[in-house]
Amino acid sequence: MDYYRVLGVVLFSLLAYTNAEQVKFADCGSTEGKVSEVNIQPCPSQPCQLHKGQSYTVNVTFTSSVASQNCTAVVHGVVSGIPVPFHIPQSDGCKSGIQCPIEPQKVYSYVNQLPVKTGYPAIKLVVEWELIDDFSKDLFCIKFPVQIVN
Ligand SMILES: *[C@@H]1O[C@H](CO)[C@@H](O)[C@H](O)[C@H]1NC(C)=O
Ligand SMILES: *[C@@H]1O[C@H](CO)[C@@H](O)[C@H](O)[C@H]1NC(C)=O
Repeated sequence: MDYYRVLGVVLFSLLAYTNAEQVKFADCGSTEGKVSEVNIQPCPSQPCQLHKGQSYTVNVTFTSSVASQNCTAVVHGVVSGIPVPFHIPQSDGCKSGIQCPIEPQKVYSYVNQLPVKTGYPAIKLVVEWELIDDFSKDLFCIKFPVQIVN
């Protein structure tokens, strides 16, 4: 391999590993918190293209306005306006980068995996991700468009 090819591969790998892409999102009712940033990795261009059989890291940084012992994530895929439950392997928010109990006015980064099953259809959809507190209210609710590709 010549020098430039090696350099190209190295640069590409660096990009692939550091492109925790800040994703444009819409807030869908974060009544108990405020989201400052959503990162998805890898997502080199938006809307994020999710390849079947791969897993994506979702990182939601938010400030809680309430105290909560526990928190639970609920994910939906919204297809033509209809929310369909989307299974995530770990729904316990306290096991997803958040140190519980949650305290008010503290900044948290919720980090979890979004696995894309091979059986999913190759369509565009909106992912709706909620993190629910002890009182069944949303610490955050965010929406972002994605495209599932082969
Ligand atoms: C999540 O995003 C926040 C804000 O950009 C960052 O400080 C934190 O290191 C990220 N966490 C992970 C595990 O990538
Ligand atoms: C929080 O989770 C712990 C451990 O699962 C449980 O014992 C406790 O009852 C939960 N608290 C609330 C307020 O749901």
